[in-house]
Amino acid sequence: MDGIVSDLQMVCVVAMARNRVIGDGSGLIWHLPGDLKRVKELTMGCPLIMGRRTWDTIGRALPGRLSIVLTRNSDWSAPEALAVQTIDEAIEAGAKWLAQQGQGENRLILFGGGEIYAAGLEYCNLIEATLIDAAPKEGVRFPAFDESAWEDIHLQSIEAGQSHPAFHYHQLRRKNPVPPPGR
Ligand SMILES: NC(=O)c1ccc[n+]([C@@H]2O[C@H](COP(=O)([O-])OP(=O)(O)OC[C@H]3O[C@@H](n4cnc5c(N)ncnc54)[C@H](OP(=O)(O)O)[C@@H]3O)[C@@H](O)[C@H]2O)c1
Repeated sequence: MDGIVSDLQMVCVVAMARNRVIGDGSGLIWHLPGDLKRVKELTMGCPLIMGRRTWDTIGRALPGRLSIVLTRNSDWSAPEALAVQTIDEAIEAGAKWLAQQGQGENRLILFGGGEIYAAGLEYCNLIEATLIDAAPKEGVRFPAFDESAWEDIHLQSIEAGQSHPAFHYHQLRRKNPVPPPGR
């Protein structure tokens, strides 16, 4: 049923190293046990706003979610993706889709990568962060941001294993919330 989504929120979901590296440009650097499951739980039923390069690294739509892909190329398309050219268009398309779903969901997910986090972080009041005890020398980075403007809530830590460093789930909540996106 069509309707209006009240209290639309944009939530940033990211896994990053201590130096804000999020990937090597063609994919993720780490395979952290349980993290993809957590991402699925955090994002199910929501529109995902992602850059065209992140779409390319995933290569398909994630079930139960709308893939909104930002590109400056007006000729770009993919069968399972909704292509948009500005962050405002992404917000509008996501809000419309949520209203059509009629499930009471009000979250748009800022899904990355680096360029899209940089374009959309100003609209987010919440960052669901996986912080990884690593600092790769090279890679795509989450944008530098003023950490003092966010309340940092530690949720859980997972110890290092043979094939992965230790990592930590945090919620970062903006101390002075910004208005809902699109307003
Ligand atoms: N660790 C994590 O949580 C996480 C999450 C997501 C992604 N990643 C990683 O991040 C890396 C990719 O990040 P990235 O920064 O290279 O690329 P990206 O942000 O995924 O995509 C960049 C592309 O998005 C489009 N774009 C960017 N800004 C735009 C704007 N303002 N308006 C319209 N279109 C815009 C452009 O597409 P066109 O070139 O088509 O014009 C640009 O080339 C990969 O390694 C991926 O695995 C990590």
